[in-house]
Amino acid sequence: MGRNKITVVGAGNVGASVAAYASAQELGDVVVIDILEGVPQGKGLDMWEATPVLGVDTRVIGTNQYEMTEGSDLVIITAGIARKPGMSRDDLLATNVRIVADVSEKVARFSPDAIIIVVSNPLDAMVYTTWKKSGFHPRRILGMAGVLDTARFRSFLAEEIGVSVEDVHALVLGGHGDTMVPLTRYCFVGGIPVTNFISPDRLEEIVQRTRQGGAEIVNLLKTGSAYYAPAASAVLMAESVLRDKKRLLPVAAYLDGEFNEKGLFVGVPAILGAAGVEKVVELELTVEEQEAFEKSVEAVRSLVKEVDQLL
Ligand code: NAI
Ligand code: 2OP
Repeated sequence: MGRNKITVVGAGNVGASVAAYASAQELGDVVVIDILEGVPQGKGLDMWEATPVLGVDTRVIGTNQYEMTEGSDLVIITAGIARKPGMSRDDLLATNVRIVADVSEKVARFSPDAIIIVVSNPLDAMVYTTWKKSGFHPRRILGMAGVLDTARFRSFLAEEIGVSVEDVHALVLGGHGDTMVPLTRYCFVGGIPVTNFISPDRLEEIVQRTRQGGAEIVNLLKTGSAYYAPAASAVLMAESVLRDKKRLLPVAAYLDGEFNEKGLFVGVPAILGAAGVEKVVELELTVEEQEAFEKSVEAVRSLVKEVDQLL
């Protein structure tokens, strides 16, 4: 079996970081594609030249030509504009729907057997756009949001409690936006419920910081949005697919009746393997959690309506 081939669309902050992590983890050879001339080529060359130092055998190439992406096993879409202070993720919709629609058609043409991970925002609407434009089976398309949102939650909790980040497990449902639903009932520290370590009020404060985690970084950076943790999160999902690890992670997955929803992509726990989303894991929700989830799904549904009008 040869090496995996990974295409990263967009050589900006997230795309370049995805390519660098994927190469450093020796997940496969990486092609970075962008419309900017020279930028993907320069970044790709720079990353490839890091491989002897890192001790990894991966070829990283930057290009403007889709021919170079042909036959990819996995494609990560990060193309599009990012948030600036004062903008919500949803403000990006009109611009990014055009970009992601165009990219998705080309990706599907050149890599008809790939699994696609979408990162561009507004995430839940962009995953839907990729589905509509690629013509792929929806379970071969996944959106990255929950891994990032839970990574933020886990970082804050681990520091607060004074334990390793590895021992904090968390789950978030719903869209990647202000309506995301962190499920504190399913948050465990070394197998022990988080409420054993932290007061309900403090936990709620950390939930709020998590919800605003994207905006917190936009306000600090001023010129764009987060990219290291987002890229690491997308690469974790890529690893589960390429190595068929069957990780159970929160991802924006197509719902076909699960959680009583159909026809759209929303954040849910799912098993990721070689086939993409191999199973959506359903949970019993309390009345409050169910209400919050439905509110979040409604927000996603209204964005998807806008996408349908633009496509
Ligand atoms: P960036 O501005 O640094 O990079 C975007 C890149 O996309 C640019 O290099 C641009 O030239 C390229 N691009 C534009 N149109 C293109 C096309 N048609 N084909 C190929 N490339 C194209 O932005 P950054 O920070 O990398 O963010 C990328 C996207 O990811 C944004 O929409 C951002 O909101 C989203 N994002 C989503 C996260 C999530 O949790 N789902 C987390 C972080 C970012
Ligand atoms: C984030 O959560 C901007 O969606 C991006 O950082």
